[in-house]
Amino acid sequence: MKKVITYGTYDLLHEGHINLLRRAKALGDYLIVGVTSDSFDRGRGKLNVRNNVLERVEAVKATGYADEVVIEDYLGQKIDDIQKYDVDIFAIGSDWEGKFDYLNEFCQVVYLPRTEGISSTMLRAESQETYRLGIVGSGRIAKRFVPETKVVNGVEVAAVYNPNKERVSAFAADFGVEAHSGSFQDFLKGVDAVYVASPHLSHYDYTKQALEAGKHVLCEIPFVLSAAQAKELYDYADAHGLVLMEASKTAYCPAFNHLVTLVKSGVIGDVIDIKASLSKMVEGSLRELDASQAGGAMNEHAPLNLMAIIRLLGTDYTKVDFYSKMENGVDVYTKANIIYPHATSSITLGIGVKTEGNLVVSGTRGYVYVPAPWWLTDFFEVRYEDQSKNKKYFYSYDGDGLRYEIQEFFSMIVNKRRSCYKLKSRESVAIAEIIEKYNKKENCVEI
Ligand code: CTP
Repeated sequence: MKKVITYGTYDLLHEGHINLLRRAKALGDYLIVGVTSDSFDRGRGKLNVRNNVLERVEAVKATGYADEVVIEDYLGQKIDDIQKYDVDIFAIGSDWEGKFDYLNEFCQVVYLPRTEGISSTMLRAESQETYRLGIVGSGRIAKRFVPETKVVNGVEVAAVYNPNKERVSAFAADFGVEAHSGSFQDFLKGVDAVYVASPHLSHYDYTKQALEAGKHVLCEIPFVLSAAQAKELYDYADAHGLVLMEASKTAYCPAFNHLVTLVKSGVIGDVIDIKASLSKMVEGSLRELDASQAGGAMNEHAPLNLMAIIRLLGTDYTKVDFYSKMENGVDVYTKANIIYPHATSSITLGIGVKTEGNLVVSGTRGYVYVPAPWWLTDFFEVRYEDQSKNKKYFYSYDGDGLRYEIQEFFSMIVNKRRSCYKLKSRESVAIAEIIEKYNKKENCVEI
């Protein structure tokens, strides 16, 4: 019996796929089809696949050409599969011509003619409306954000707003978008969704105005500096069918999400302590060092670190205290303890004190160690008393890592999902609440 194997994503199954499967089947007696898993696709930079793996497998089965379907989940699997299933022919569309010649060592490689004029990418683009995104603010993070939008389908950065005419014009010229420095309402009229990346103290106001104008909002961290404001905005968004998301970038990254699911599955037993740290030295006359612009280590870095703690230990903490080293009215270093009924946690943050920026989650059976910079997580290790049981986990963290939050934001809009399990609105409110306590100097000691 002659066995043939072929691979693909098979998203939005189309005529090109069906032709390919028919031709591949005709090469032998038995056809195995490898369908890429969702995580493998994401790892390959395909952030926009529409059908999930189960739907894609069902679609391939429904063509009637596949005798067997396997899931492709890792790089190098083709060689394993070919040997494991004793495959005679590896077949793939001619768009891959030459790319799989290395498999000739294991079986015959055949490139089949590709059907012209159709692809999943094309169908996705046709069926998807393009959302016009407006950016509020034209500073450092906004500049890093624009290139990241390019890898997410269906998003076009259309406009930028900054009351400073000179700065907004320079940004608009650099990125080829419309500049607005006058009426914020005029800016809002031309967009479907807004990314708020303006100075901290303006987040509430811009977010509120955008929501009131019926726009979905992705707001940079710190989202807002008061729990009541955070709650009010989420309630408003909820009541009006709008997506409001805190751009806590690490929350949406593959490695951090797997860390959370592993810990919640009990791989280290009960979580008893979490230590999260982040420091970035800041010099000069930057916003971070300006008390009047809500600068300081806490406002700057607490959101990501509290996000990790709250996602793992929840929102029902019982006590918080803070210790800060102050300079010119801003905390250049803050340590906060967030205590739960059955667990402790702390965050150590610096903009004028350098700390080791790692994350350690300790449990009754072992601990998870994420080396610095933990917030750009692409690797972590689960460690035990018996070191032979330790396990290392590796992931991709592509580009500036903002693409994951952008993808989540637009996926929520497109699929009309109003709640995101990667960072729930009540978790985001709890983050704002702790930051608010700090800014009110509750249980705060200067060192
Ligand atoms: N294929 C084909 N003709 C097309 C599209 C795809 O023969 N018009 C083949 C590919 O060469 C591959 C298989 O179908 O052997 C699965 O391809 P896949 O990457 O899933 O489909 P695409 O439509 O190319 O997807 P995308 O646009 O997301 O890259």
